[in-house]
Amino acid sequence: MATLPIIIAPDPRLKMKCKPVGQVDEAIATLMTDMLETMYLAPGIGLAAPQVGVTKRVIVVDATGKDEERNPIKMANPELLFTSEEIWTYEEGCLSLPDHYAEVARPTKVRVGYLDENNKRCELEADELLATCIQHEMDHLDGMLFVDHISALKRNMILRKLVKTKKLKAQDAAAE
Ligand code: NI
Repeated sequence: MATLPIIIAPDPRLKMKCKPVGQVDEAIATLMTDMLETMYLAPGIGLAAPQVGVTKRVIVVDATGKDEERNPIKMANPELLFTSEEIWTYEEGCLSLPDHYAEVARPTKVRVGYLDENNKRCELEADELLATCIQHEMDHLDGMLFVDHISALKRNMILRKLVKTKKLKAQDAAAE
């Protein structure tokens, strides 16, 4: 197992459309395991392959609470088979946009089809936090960030702050 560096926005690698996985082989299964380890360490409740520089349709999620038993879910080629008309709003964050949050409205319930780590075709029904998390990670596979769901004004404010933070970090690194 290994942890992987997480790409921070704005970055063109977070805006790419990812390619489907042909089949979940050993390399993809290892990627899923490494992504989960990276996500737990961060810590976060979801991570998509483009966030670690891999333009493949792979996501991992675990929306269980701190005191609950872990429930890691690994998905390749996730597809939404059903989305409810009912909407759920949640203050989302993202490991690629550290320290920034915004309310995003998405369908409350979803049914997702995907390949698991054994290349087995699976379906999962999810609601509320898990459903939001899956939809957020799936967005990443099409180059969408949660800030693409909010007003341009708020989005640009967050992205400007991220650019500033990146510059400061680069200066600090150069000074060392
Ligand atoms: Ni994210």
